[in-house]
Amino acid sequence: MERHLITSAIPYINGIKHLGNLVGSQLPADLYARYQRAKGNEVLFLCATDEHGTPAELAAAKAGKPVAEYCAEMHEVQAALAKGFRLSFDHFGRSSSPQNHALTQHFAGQLDAEGLISEVSEKQVYSNTDGRFLPDRYIEGTCPNCGYDKARGDQCENCTKQLDPTDLIEPRSAISGSTDLEVRETKHLYLRQSVLKDRLDAWIDSKSDWPVLTTSIAKKWLHDGNGLQDRGITRDLNWGIPVRKGNADWPGMEGKVFYVWFDAPIEYIACASEWCDAQGLDDAAWERWWRTDKGAGDVRYTQFMGKDNVPFHTLSFPATILGSNEPWKMVDHLKSFNFLNYDGGQFSTSQGRGIFMDQALEILPSDYWRWWLLSHAPENSDSEFTWENFQSTVNKDLADVLGNFVSRITKFCRSKFGEAVPAGCAFGEEEEALIASLNARLAEYEKHMSAMEVRKSAQELRAIWTSGNEYLQSVAPWTTFKTDPDRAAMQTRLGLNLAVLFGVLSSPFVPDASARILESFGRSSQPWPQNMQDILGTLQPEDPFTVPEVLFAKITDDQRDDWQARFSGQRD
Ligand code: MF3
Ligand code: ZN
Repeated sequence: MERHLITSAIPYINGIKHLGNLVGSQLPADLYARYQRAKGNEVLFLCATDEHGTPAELAAAKAGKPVAEYCAEMHEVQAALAKGFRLSFDHFGRSSSPQNHALTQHFAGQLDAEGLISEVSEKQVYSNTDGRFLPDRYIEGTCPNCGYDKARGDQCENCTKQLDPTDLIEPRSAISGSTDLEVRETKHLYLRQSVLKDRLDAWIDSKSDWPVLTTSIAKKWLHDGNGLQDRGITRDLNWGIPVRKGNADWPGMEGKVFYVWFDAPIEYIACASEWCDAQGLDDAAWERWWRTDKGAGDVRYTQFMGKDNVPFHTLSFPATILGSNEPWKMVDHLKSFNFLNYDGGQFSTSQGRGIFMDQALEILPSDYWRWWLLSHAPENSDSEFTWENFQSTVNKDLADVLGNFVSRITKFCRSKFGEAVPAGCAFGEEEEALIASLNARLAEYEKHMSAMEVRKSAQELRAIWTSGNEYLQSVAPWTTFKTDPDRAAMQTRLGLNLAVLFGVLSSPFVPDASARILESFGRSSQPWPQNMQDILGTLQPEDPFTVPEVLFAKITDDQRDDWQARFSGQRD
């Protein structure tokens, strides 16, 4: 039995995620986790909310709530939506958890003990009105280059010039608009990543099976320009993990917190510890996933993320782990995604453009979305959601092919043989040919699923469904029945067994429909097939079944037009 540790990039706490976010990490990670479990492998699948940083603080302020309360509420909202989409996390944690506080402080102390932390004094803009330091992008003013009056302290959006906050003419706080700003001296911790460059380089070279796209991003950061830069890992904020060296105070760093991108990936580990605590297990239970000295040597660790997250997972987080000089499990495979666009533009959280997870579930069950999103996953390039494509994919693949097959065969059987599996004669040539072709397709499907080739897996699954329809169409038991009822019974028995097969193989993609198919044959689950001969003999003569309710309703043109209009503007 293989052991798979699987993590999805942890979504920011502020706001509900859109479908582009979902397909870029959580959903394909769920597909892979479900597949590995179905194959009988041991899986630990983790995700969490990413709760620190200025955006979380500002969102809480906008909602008029203390930030801790805001985060606790939004965590519940995101957890409920994850359930709604059937994301099968073993634990959905929080980067603000006590476990992550302890672990983040532990890593910082360890990095310091290894001589990898330096203290740097720098000048930063402080807003007297807001009573806080302002991150560069929360300072606005007039661009010295083009005169644009809403330039940000890190960059002018209008002329793209990179800026320093002190370059801005008439700078003001983007939070309050106040111009009562001053430059103050403040001390921060830097992780000396430059010292780790050779070790990171060697580690990346050891990953010969990584896609070129991933290694080239990592290599570019390692070697371009001045090479890997040391990285500030602390901030002057109230909300976050207090800067400490393990359990001890860090003199001079009182009142400061770790930078959100320092503690967020550490939550991948802390989440396993949260999972243990929630299950009442002891530490050994999570350490066997994360510590190579405590049993994680045979774990295969796969991370899922959007392409913008790749540098953090190939360099920053590995730098934290390598620098600690402790035997933590490091990532084996990293699956990254391009972006999903929405109807001729981009999905945008800040502009409320596109379809958000809560809205999607209000109009259709999760299987419809899962199937479209996964079968159109932005793997090799960006992809685009359009309502026409969504309608035709759902209607063809789910309603006409999968749904129709199950409904047709069960209804036919009920009308001619009753609600029990008929016996009939032995398989003939057509059946043997179908079995041989399905065996080959199963091997392809498994190959793509193991390789996390999401679109190819979906194509293969669809081809498996289609071959069932083609078989029924070609042997036509409704015609055979008139001349050779025994043969028609055999064809029907095979058809019913094909429905069971589809139920099992489809479960990583459309778990609810799969469960309903299997339920109609009286099964709460069904082991993944070893080969077609076995699975197609699952249902025996006399086994009872019921005709399931319509599995997938077609999307009408009216619905499509309504939804397109409803989601064309901004969400309020
Ligand atoms: N919250 C980040 C995003 O949505 C992802 C954080 S992933 C982690 O882009 F590695 F930091 F955990
Ligand atoms: Zn400008």
